[in-house]
Amino acid sequence: SIWYPGHVQKAKRQLKENLKKVDIVVVVLDARAPVATTSFELKIFKDKKVIILLNKSDLANEELNKEWQKEISKYFPVILVNKNTDRRNIIRLIKSVPVKSPNPRIVVVGVPNVGKSTIINKIIGRHKAKTGAQPGVTRGVQWIMVDGFTVLDSPGILFSEVFSKDIAAKLLLIGSVPVENVTDEIYNRAFAIYAEVANVGEDMDIYLRNFGKQRGFLKKGGEVDIERAKNLFFKELSEGKFGRFTYDVDISKFEEVL
Ligand code: GTP
Repeated sequence: SIWYPGHVQKAKRQLKENLKKVDIVVVVLDARAPVATTSFELKIFKDKKVIILLNKSDLANEELNKEWQKEISKYFPVILVNKNTDRRNIIRLIKSVPVKSPNPRIVVVGVPNVGKSTIINKIIGRHKAKTGAQPGVTRGVQWIMVDGFTVLDSPGILFSEVFSKDIAAKLLLIGSVPVENVTDEIYNRAFAIYAEVANVGEDMDIYLRNFGKQRGFLKKGGEVDIERAKNLFFKELSEGKFGRFTYDVDISKFEEVL
């Protein structure tokens, strides 16, 4: 399907290969959509220790953040994090996991754009590998020693296999799917989900027309460029410009994706 181009297959193969060497899998979920960003994929880590980071918690609803952390903690060690989280909180969580190896290997995984690289950089911190030492030579993946464990310097990318329209819409709302890949139906669904949690009364067309007008997105004849308005609206919404929203609101759904 459209969601499964060749590079996805390649990413999956690479992750499978790397997983053989790994003791702990750090799964990054988006706190705004913990179910949509899990999507049935935790199964592939069944023989690993899994810990969960609910990232971008600064963009999610504060009450629901607490509820989600509580719910997920029934199944996995979990903390709420964001760009400004002290790295020591993440290190502490990793070190709390009982593993046999004296020098456990960890890999960071998650769906596109949840903040995997940001978290890897945080974990690696001052241990950062030298880059670009040999011009023209592509650097492969590297295992980097951090105090007490070893972390893979590049993230494992997950893609949802069971792909409902609801999940697609939520991934759009959090900026995890490129806007070009999205059908009108998914846009409408996404707007409806947003309107519900944000208490917006207008329908999408009227809303976007006003938004486009405000931003001065006018075409030659003076009518609003809806396409441009739509793209910018969903981009800014996913970046938290209109407030903090959580789109997965049904806590009981987490159990179903395990
Ligand atoms: P891919 O390589 O596309 O799979 O992305 P990734 O999962 O590695 O995410 P990355 O670390 O590149 O972060 C994606 C975007 O989200 C960047 O613009 C980050 O600055 C932003 N970001 C990451 N973490 C947070 C967070 O906790 N809060 C907010 N507000 N933004 C974040």
